[in-house]
Amino acid sequence: MKKNFLIKVLFIFLFYPNLSMSNDLTLGKEVAESICAACHGVDGRAASGGNSALVPNIFAQNKDYLVVKLKDYKSGKINHPQMTLIAQMLTDDQILNVSEWYSRISVELKLPE
Ligand code: HEC
Repeated sequence: MKKNFLIKVLFIFLFYPNLSMSNDLTLGKEVAESICAACHGVDGRAASGGNSALVPNIFAQNKDYLVVKLKDYKSGKINHPQMTLIAQMLTDDQILNVSEWYSRISVELKLPE
C-alpha cells in the first residue's frame, strides 16, 4: 500500500543513487572523480597542493566553454604539458559528459562588499 510504496522508493534512492542523475551526468562524475579530481577537485574547485595556484576553478562554467577548451587541448591547439595529455586520454563523449558534470555544479554569487 502507500507505506510499502514509499519504502520501495526510499530503497531505490538509497541503493541506486545513480538513478537520480541522468546518465551523462553519472558518467561525467566518474571521469571527474577518476581523472580530474586530483587537480580540479570533483567539485571543480582547484584544491590540489603544490601547483594549485596554476589550476583554474572549473565549476559552474558554461558547458560549451569547457567542451571547446578540452577539444582544443586534445587537438593541440592549446598546448599545455598536463592538460594536453589528459585531454588526449578522453573520448569525445567523455569530454561532453565531464563538461556536463562541471557545468551543472551551481554556486551562489556574492559581490565583494
Ligand atoms: C595534473 C593536474 C590536472 C588534471 C588531472 C586535470 N587538469 Fe585541467 N588543468 C590543469 C591546469 C594546470 C590547467 C591550466 C592549463 C593552462 O594554463 O592552459 C588546467 C586547465 C583546464 C581547463 C581550462 C580552463 C580554462 O578556463 O581555461 C579545463 C576545462 C580543464 N582543465 C578541465 C579538466 C578536466 C575535465 C579534467 C579531467 C578529465 C582535468 N582538467 C584534469 C591541471 C589538471
